[in-house]
Amino acid sequence: MTALSLSENAEIILKTHNPFKKCFLTFKTINKWKKKQINIVGKNFCIEEPYRLNKPIILPPKFMPRRRGLNKINARIALIHSLAHIELNAIDLAWDIIARFNHYKLPLKFYDDWMRIAKEEAIHFLLLTKRLKDLGSRYGELDAHDGLWDAAKKTNQSLIERLAVVPMYFEARGLDVSPDIIEKLSKVKDHKSVKCLEKIYKDEINHVKIAEFWFRWVCEKFGKNPKITWQTTISSFFCKRVDLPKNNKAREKANMSAYLSYNS
Ligand SMILES: [Fe+2]
Ligand SMILES: [Fe+2]
Repeated sequence: MTALSLSENAEIILKTHNPFKKCFLTFKTINKWKKKQINIVGKNFCIEEPYRLNKPIILPPKFMPRRRGLNKINARIALIHSLAHIELNAIDLAWDIIARFNHYKLPLKFYDDWMRIAKEEAIHFLLLTKRLKDLGSRYGELDAHDGLWDAAKKTNQSLIERLAVVPMYFEARGLDVSPDIIEKLSKVKDHKSVKCLEKIYKDEINHVKIAEFWFRWVCEKFGKNPKITWQTTISSFFCKRVDLPKNNKAREKANMSAYLSYNS
């Protein structure tokens, strides 16, 4: 029997309903790739949406309840639940980018980089779901929204758009809000949650950095200026010239500083 290609493995993972099995298959596939038991990328595979269990119930972002006061355990559960859901989407987004854009003739380093991200997203999901359990809840118990995956669907046709909008705009926003959340959790002495979020924050800086590297790579391949391309891509995604995020230490480490000012 011939071994499955990397894209075929990505398809299996994207079509896996159970998030814990998805994590397990993520680790297994990456190990096989490292041992060269999977040695071809294969034909590209495109899915409209990854498969999901019937819980959590998915609501439009505007219907999500507002969270207040992290001194209350329910607010902390709601926070960790929403972050766990983002991490689950991030696992699928990594496999989707691996499977969807093969026709760009990407170097093997692209696949190594996005598999590293898939693995870290799976670790983040498992860390957060473990924390949810400690707090007396579990993943699926609360509602969630799929804002990140909606952005992915709108950028299905272009690797430049996908990288610009999903990791370099939406995921990078996590770099802005994380320090504040970590500080609030420290104040209420939830040290275990702080530890989880600190690890995730550190890894996410590198994820944005990897996305920026590949965004620049594709822009150069097509003779485009990365800064102008990023700014015009996000403006056309939102149908208006957007207020650019403020630079900060994390964005600097992720090589995003150069993108964060308009020339005029
Ligand atoms: Fe993550
Ligand atoms: Fe990430």
